[in-house]
Amino acid sequence: MSDTSITLTDPSTGKQIELPIIHGTEGAPVLDIGKLHKEFGYFTYDPGFVSTASCQSTITYLDGSEGTLMYRGYPIEQLAERCNYLEVCHLILTGELPNAEQKVAFERTIRNHTMINENLKAFFDGFRYDAHPMAMMTGVVGSLSAFYHDKLDIRDPEHRMHTAYRLIAKIPTIAAAAYKHSIGEPFIYPRSDLSYTGNLLHMMYARPTQEYRLDPVAEKALDVLFTLHADHEQNASTSTVRLAGSSGANPYAAIAAGIASLWGPAHGGANEAVLRMLDEIGDVSNIDKYIAKAKDKEDPFRLMGFGHRVYRNFDPRAQIIKEICHEVLKTYGNDPRMELAMRLEEIALEDAYFVERKLYPNVDFYSGIIYAALGLPVEMFTVMFAIGRTVGWIAHWMEMISEPGQKIGRPRQLYTGPARRDVLTLEQR
Ligand code: CMC
Repeated sequence: MSDTSITLTDPSTGKQIELPIIHGTEGAPVLDIGKLHKEFGYFTYDPGFVSTASCQSTITYLDGSEGTLMYRGYPIEQLAERCNYLEVCHLILTGELPNAEQKVAFERTIRNHTMINENLKAFFDGFRYDAHPMAMMTGVVGSLSAFYHDKLDIRDPEHRMHTAYRLIAKIPTIAAAAYKHSIGEPFIYPRSDLSYTGNLLHMMYARPTQEYRLDPVAEKALDVLFTLHADHEQNASTSTVRLAGSSGANPYAAIAAGIASLWGPAHGGANEAVLRMLDEIGDVSNIDKYIAKAKDKEDPFRLMGFGHRVYRNFDPRAQIIKEICHEVLKTYGNDPRMELAMRLEEIALEDAYFVERKLYPNVDFYSGIIYAALGLPVEMFTVMFAIGRTVGWIAHWMEMISEPGQKIGRPRQLYTGPARRDVLTLEQR
């Protein structure tokens, strides 16, 4: 082994191959195995991609052992404190924070795209009143290519950026329409005089009979939450968007696939699952019983909002969210689930099972309490995550599609089914 390559030897033939070591700007070095099969005859086996970098990316860096998260080099704590969500979107999409002039122009562009085609509104009527809003989100976002195909040339950078604007602008409108449908209230049109999150709150809570009085605490809390959710490198939904888009599928279809992936309880669906879990636990006196269930390998119960594939130290997003949670509850009144969550965290963090496995609260642990305080039903929690993450998905799609020599994503497998056998005739079987 040199410091620039690693040599593998096949014990059965003695044949050797030298695999280059690649270094990124930050993080662990990566072994380039691109020629492994062609020159050596082996594939690699890595279920869940625990050791596999599937791409190069310049967007987000996270260090799970340090609890670090950065977008385009900027630490998440500074972005959450000094920038609003749309500035962060500009950063993620273009690589740089906007100056004052660019900020105004970017906000204007997003505001110009918040309306959805009137015919799209009719889609919601096709869903049953009790449809999960994530099901509506997946369906409606997937259908956007049928409405916005004037700028769908994926090889044209201007078309790609235009699609990014459309998605970031329309996602809150679609989310609010899903919410209004689920409570049987009429759709409320977007307003261009409000902030990104102010407009979302307006579309969710205003009624034709009365204005929604915008609360700056709610507006700010959502804005920071969206910043914290904006990107998280190659998580399941982002990898899904990249894989779906790698075939040349249109970006709306790829993002709809990402939304479907996000919905799972091991991913974005965890924020909904945390609140359901807290309701089920019900009281501090039941915590021990649930901690025991989480540790019991025979019991499928897991402590939702705990653990992360990459963070083996604290999740920096969870720490910021816990602070916002306290701020929001100061205005909206205490929620007994907050006390329950904090006690659960305290007990789990002292328990050897969680300590040894380095399981800490993740981004989803406290976010649900904020959404609940703002009056959102649990079914809408993952939709909020999807709104914030849209910019990350589209930025990764754009990065992937513009790579020179971009290839369709096509993993290999280790086949463990029956060996070759002959088909018997019906009489012989
Ligand atoms: N409760 C109890 N035990 C857990 C938990 C948990 N929440 N998470 C991990 N473990 C255990 C797991 O059983 C395993 O134990 P052992 O080594 O004895 O077999 C060990 O910890 C390692 O876990 P893993 O399942 O191998 O870890 P993973 O990287 O495959 O899974 C995870 C990561 C996030 C899916 C998992 O921690 C989990 O299911 N957490 C609960 C769901 C959740 O909160 N998801 C949100 C993730 S953050 C936001 C997002 O990505 O959208």
